[in-house]
Amino acid sequence: MGSHLERIVFLTGAGVSAESGIPTFRAKDGLWENHRVEDVATPEAFRRDPALVLRFYNERRRGVLAAEPNSAHRLIAELQNDFDVWVITQNIDDLHERAGSRQVLHLHGEIKKARSTRDPDYIVELNGSELNLGDLCPLGSQLRPHIVWFGEAVPAMEEAIEIAQEADLFAVVGTSLQVYPAAGIVEFVPLSSRLFLIDPAPVGGGFHRRVERFFQAPATQGMAQLVEHVRAT
Ligand code: APR
Repeated sequence: MGSHLERIVFLTGAGVSAESGIPTFRAKDGLWENHRVEDVATPEAFRRDPALVLRFYNERRRGVLAAEPNSAHRLIAELQNDFDVWVITQNIDDLHERAGSRQVLHLHGEIKKARSTRDPDYIVELNGSELNLGDLCPLGSQLRPHIVWFGEAVPAMEEAIEIAQEADLFAVVGTSLQVYPAAGIVEFVPLSSRLFLIDPAPVGGGFHRRVERFFQAPATQGMAQLVEHVRAT
């Protein structure tokens, strides 16, 4: 039998895409400074004012379409040459995929997809940047962004936990770890796994004592340092 490839698992957040020009959520100029979560990112908001919610995500989608992966996304993908790399991302952009990552799990959905409001299993790829009122699924119900809103379940959590539990090396990149259940995934990283953190700001809370190295830097620099460190040790 072939030898067992070491597994590297990344948990990524908005910070990994910040240098691609996609705004984070909780920074001073972040998305949640200019938009109220309750107005645009909850099921209630979509019931109350679907046009506003669709407009908000159409804007997000245009931003993603205009963005390119950065070297942090690319360095993560390059590790696939030597490791079994998994990316668990809270991001709704597809920059990990466009950088070449093949095992990407989206916890909070994908901006380039839409889903039926009647049949949650009906998910379609959007061709253009717009999803509008009147865009219907085959059952005749309005399509919604394929996004996990606040107050909704995170269906990918179970798989994310299974992936994390098999990690030999786990790296948290560019997330404030303020949103659950996603932030709780770090609790499932086995004690035998090495743990790394990349973020320009001090984050991480309770699990800091387990962190082998905190690369306090933007994702592109931090990833270069992480790769160097892993290759050397
Ligand atoms: N490189 C790496 N990290 C960065 C960079 C950068 N260039 N710039 C900012 N950061 C860090 C910030 O310091 C912060 O810790 O990225 C993190 C972004 O945090 P948030 O804005 O809270 O984004 P995230 O953690 O992804 O949010 C989680 O909340 O609003 C919901 O569903 C949304 O998936 C999102 C979830």
